[in-house]
Amino acid sequence: MNKLAVISGFTGMTGSELGKQLLKDDYKIVAFDNFFASSIESIKDIKSNKNLYFFEYDINSLKDMSLLKEFINNKFESFEIEFINCAAVVHTKHFYEVDDTFTTNVLGMKSFLDMAISLNAKSYINCSTSEVYSMESWSEDGMKEEDAVVLATAENSQRTSYATGKLLTEFFLRDAVIKNKIKGCSLRFANVYSSDELYPDHIIPHIISSLQKSNKITLLNNSKVNKRTFLHNIDSCSSILCLLKEYEALDGSVYNVGTKEEISMIDLVKKIAHKMNIKDLEINYEGFRENDPIRRLINCDKIKKRTSWMDTISLDEGLDISLKIKNKNE
Ligand SMILES: NC(=O)c1ccc[n+]([C@@H]2O[C@H](COP(=O)([O-])OP(=O)(O)OC[C@H]3O[C@@H](n4cnc5c(N)ncnc54)[C@H](O)[C@@H]3O)[C@@H](O)[C@H]2O)c1
Repeated sequence: MNKLAVISGFTGMTGSELGKQLLKDDYKIVAFDNFFASSIESIKDIKSNKNLYFFEYDINSLKDMSLLKEFINNKFESFEIEFINCAAVVHTKHFYEVDDTFTTNVLGMKSFLDMAISLNAKSYINCSTSEVYSMESWSEDGMKEEDAVVLATAENSQRTSYATGKLLTEFFLRDAVIKNKIKGCSLRFANVYSSDELYPDHIIPHIISSLQKSNKITLLNNSKVNKRTFLHNIDSCSSILCLLKEYEALDGSVYNVGTKEEISMIDLVKKIAHKMNIKDLEINYEGFRENDPIRRLINCDKIKKRTSWMDTISLDEGLDISLKIKNKNE
């Protein structure tokens, strides 16, 4: 049967890489983005592909979504349809913005899910986040999907509004699956990065571009103690392709998607500086991000057991690719 993927947030870090992987896997794609946090630049290699239909649409616009639905209805009647929701207000500075994250991440997710159901789509992949682990984001074996989460409340930090919204989307998805309306799952990604990332607030592009200018870098005070894992977006997106091939796994479950390779922020800076041959590195600290977990370590055994997915790009390899691309673009 012909396969169609309908993807929101398509020019973002996840959507754009996912598009490349799905086109190679013989999917046709209908996709959109409103360029809230991205541009057409990120899909320049695929935007003329005859199997891609891209629209500048807003997930929160009733008019845009009704045009999208009409387009799919008219053109892809005999297709097996998979919905993948990547549209979201994501970056850390937005985590604290309740209105924005609620409208797009919760209401947008839900109306996109309702559209998938009304079009008899086969499945819906919901991009959630490891931010849902909130106050306790790590444990010896890594946080597991079934672990109860300890959420910061409004009294502690506005940041958790982002996580709470994403957690709610996992309930919507599961409810729809339990009621046999659609198949699907939610993915809790942890710290995804891409080699051609343009977003300067993200830690890896921030380190690389600072060290390209001089031997100095300014980090938040949190970085004195914080540790993180980093998952390359080639690997985060391949988890979606693996899940689409395992219909049984689309039972409303939540899956953690990340790596075990944990590194402190300071060691990350030193690693990148070493790769860039910077000898007299100077690290300065300024500012503090409230409620930022010291560690974020998740356990990914579940997705590995239920699908063929595994992470394939080590942090060293990922950074080497990032530096190569940065140097080429200079
Ligand atoms: N990057 C990470 O580390 C990470 C970690 C955990 C979870 N996630 C989740 O993965 C998903 C994809 O994130 P990403 O890293 O690709 O982020 P991204 O910001 O690169 O992509 C999100 C895309 O959604 C688009 N968008 C925002 N509002 C929209 C709207 N109203 N209508 C249409 N498009 C809209 C943005 O323009 C952007 O292109 C999100 O659901 C995010 O919460 C990402």
